[in-house]
Amino acid sequence: MEDNIKISLAPIQGYTDWIYRRAFQEYIGGVDEFYTPFLVLQNDGTIRKSHQREVEPYIEKSINLVPQFVAGTISEFKYFEDYFSELGYVKMNWNLGCPYPMITKRGRGSGLLPYPEKIRDLLDNAYSSKLALSIKLRLGLIDPKEIFSVLDVLKDFNLDDLILHPRTAKQMYKGDIDRNIYEQCVNSYKKEIAYNGDIAFEDDYKELILRFPNLSHVMIGRGILNDLYLPKKIKGLDIPPEEERKQILKQFHQKVFTDNCGLLNGEAQVLHKMKPFWEHFSNHFQMERKVYKLIKKSVGINKYEKAVDFAFQQNLKD
Ligand SMILES: Cc1cc2nc3c(=O)[nH]c(=O)nc-3n(C[C@H](O)[C@H](O)[C@H](O)COP(=O)(O)O)c2cc1C
Repeated sequence: MEDNIKISLAPIQGYTDWIYRRAFQEYIGGVDEFYTPFLVLQNDGTIRKSHQREVEPYIEKSINLVPQFVAGTISEFKYFEDYFSELGYVKMNWNLGCPYPMITKRGRGSGLLPYPEKIRDLLDNAYSSKLALSIKLRLGLIDPKEIFSVLDVLKDFNLDDLILHPRTAKQMYKGDIDRNIYEQCVNSYKKEIAYNGDIAFEDDYKELILRFPNLSHVMIGRGILNDLYLPKKIKGLDIPPEEERKQILKQFHQKVFTDNCGLLNGEAQVLHKMKPFWEHFSNHFQMERKVYKLIKKSVGINKYEKAVDFAFQQNLKD
């Protein structure tokens, strides 16, 4: 269908980490650009090891990875730009969308949206243009109209990309997406704004592109976690027949599982990581509820592996 649309995998903390992204590229494909979940400076000004891992070991393997950060002060912003630049990245993504109070209360993520002049100050005085800058944002912290003053500021800067998830932070990840405001934003900003939010099926994409025929970049998160082949379906690329697909999904899971076993300490930690993975991955199987229930209940790796075997005995959804 669409082979010239750019599809990005949305950053989803706890899911789309480097292990997941690497397995996705190796076994699935169809995604053009990847984003790390946001990196944040800790109180002592350092970056925790798990966040460093997101950008450090991965760099040699991918030129289409965009590191993402939250920053609310000039020094934080500069820190990340220097850090990513030293690692050899050419582009970074500033997160102005994170809705978690721990982040917003400190004036980061969507906590900056009610303060467009702070955003201007950071872009004027912290951003050195060493790296191309992309921004991912929401409509507002509380009020969806906050976006218009923010766009007025962003218009004055030469941004690489703007990606809008048309919800407020107050809505978190649920509730209606406001495509009318998205449309008003596109009209007022004049340059393209990439779209993100609730593309779960191919038909959602078709509906979106019918309304916004000039759209050339969409970012998809949960839709891809639930159906790894969604990008290929959207692009009209070949999808392997069921048996082959099942083998590929098996290898994909095995890679994610083995890499996590190598990284994490002990069974409990591995299961703590793999169970949420199945919250979405089980959606590939026709008996998804039963599959997920068995995985969730499993105590110890042996039981987990039995539940995984059960999953792969099921038929896949289309
Ligand atoms: C559990 C969870 C973690 C997320 N972590 C991030 C993050 O680290 N950075 C970010 O920009 N967005 C994050 N998001 C938001 C997604 O990138 C995306 O904007 C949102 O899920 C809407 O897109 P979707 O409907 O295609 O999933 C997160 C979403 C969820 C549900």
